[in-house]
Amino acid sequence: MIPESFLSRLREAVPVSDVVGRALRLQKAGREFKAPCPFHHEKTPSFYVNDDKGMYHCFGCGAHGDVIAFLMRHGNVSFVDAVQHLAVHAGLDMPTVTPAERKAQARRRDLHSVVELVARWFEEQLRAEDGKAARTYLADRGLSEETVARFRLGWAPPGGQALRRHLAARGVSEADALEAGVLVRSDDTGEVRSFFRRRVIFPIGDSQGRVVGFGGRLVDGDGPKYINTADTPLFAKGELLYGWTRMRRALRDGQTPIVAEGYMDVIALAQAGFEATVAPLGTALTEAQLRRLFRALPPDQPLEPVIVFDGDDAGRRAALRVVERALPVLAPGRSLRFASPPAGDDPDSLVRTGGAAAFAPILAAARPLAEVLWDAETAERRLSTPEDKAAVVKAVDARIAAIADDAVRAAYAADFAGRLEALLGHRPALASGERRSVE
Ligand code: UTP
Ligand code: MN
Repeated sequence: MIPESFLSRLREAVPVSDVVGRALRLQKAGREFKAPCPFHHEKTPSFYVNDDKGMYHCFGCGAHGDVIAFLMRHGNVSFVDAVQHLAVHAGLDMPTVTPAERKAQARRRDLHSVVELVARWFEEQLRAEDGKAARTYLADRGLSEETVARFRLGWAPPGGQALRRHLAARGVSEADALEAGVLVRSDDTGEVRSFFRRRVIFPIGDSQGRVVGFGGRLVDGDGPKYINTADTPLFAKGELLYGWTRMRRALRDGQTPIVAEGYMDVIALAQAGFEATVAPLGTALTEAQLRRLFRALPPDQPLEPVIVFDGDDAGRRAALRVVERALPVLAPGRSLRFASPPAGDDPDSLVRTGGAAAFAPILAAARPLAEVLWDAETAERRLSTPEDKAAVVKAVDARIAAIADDAVRAAYAADFAGRLEALLGHRPALASGERRSVE
C-alpha cells in the first residue's frame, strides 16, 4: 500500500491540468480548463479540469477523479503504475511502506479530527462574549470580519480548562489531545490544560489545508508575543508554511509568490490582494520549506518566490542565511528574489497605512539571489593585495560549490567569473565550475 501522505505530495506536485493537458487540448474556462470528454463521444466540451480541487469532472458522462484516476483510466494502467509514472514526472522517490507506517497513518487520522475540533472551538470563542477584546484587537489591526473568517482566526480564553472540558465532552481522550499538542501538562502543578491561553489563534494548515497546529498571539499581559504548537505527528514546524493552500491557488492565477516573516504579514498582504503569500512558523526558513516552495508549480514553469524581510540589519542577516540555505536547492527555473521594506516597517504595517500601493513598489524592486550573494561576498572587502583577491575568489568559489544542480552551478560559475574579472582585472580560475566526477 502506498501511504496517503505520499499520494498527497504527488497530487500537490502535479496539477491535473498538467497531465490531462498532455492528452487533450485544454481551453481555459475561468479558474478551470475544459475539453471534449475523452471518456464519451461529444462535440461541445463538458469535461472540466479544476486544479484547485485537484479533480476532473465530466458533466456529460459523470466521469470524475483526481490526477491518478485520470492516468489509470485514460492510459489504461494500474493504480501503482499511474502513481509510479507521476512520481517520476514530479521527481519524487517512491516510498516503501511498513506495517508501523500503516499504524501511524491511522493514528494521524484520529489526531486530524481532534485538531479540527479545537480549531472550531477557538473560532466559536472569538465570536462569543469572552472574545470581544480579541475581536476589537483584530479590527484595530485592520482585519475585516471576512478576513478573520477566511483565516479561521480564533480566541483561546484565559482559563485553560474550558477546552479540556469541551474535548472530554466530545469523547476525545486526554492522550490524543496531549499528542495533538492542544492540551499540555503543566510542569509545576501537573494540571492538564489548554496549551494556548489568553491568545488570538492563527490556525496553521498542512499541504491539503487541514488544520494541524496553531500560532497564538498575546493581546495583553506578560509572556512571549507568539507561541506555536510544538511538533506533533501532524505538525512539523520546519516543513509547513503558513498560508500554503491559498498561496498555491493564487500562484496558479499568476500572482507573485511572497514569503513574509509573520502570520500578520501573510494575512494583511492577502487582504490587500497579495494572495500568494506564506510565512514560516516562527523559525528561520528551512531548506525543507524552500524545497516545498519550489514544488508549488510544475517543474517546467519558472518560480521565483520573493523573500521579504525587515529592512534592518537583522533582516539583512536573515536574508543571507536564506541565500545560504537556498544554494543546495536551486534548480533551472527555481530561484529567489529579496525585497526589503524601509527600516521599521513590515509588510503588515505598510499595507495597513498605505494599502497595496505602498507594498507594490517594494515587491517590484526585489533583487535576484545572485545579486544579493555577490554583494554579500564582495561589498566592503579590501582588494589591494594578491592575497585579498585570492580570498574573494575563494569565498565566491565556495558559495558556487554549494549549488547542487550541475546546470545552475555552471551558470553561476560563468556569471561570477565575469563579475570577478571586472572586479579584479583578471579572469579567476573557479574550481566550482568544473563538473565534479565520482571517484
Ligand atoms: P514579529 O515579531 O516580526 O511579529 O515575528 P509580527 O508578525 O510583526 O507580529 P505582530 O505584527 O506584532 O503581531 C514574526 C513571526 O515570528 C514568530 C511568529 O511566527 C511571528 O509571526 N514569533 C515572533 C514567535 O514565534 N515568537 C515570538 O515571540 C515572536
Ligand atoms: Mn508586524
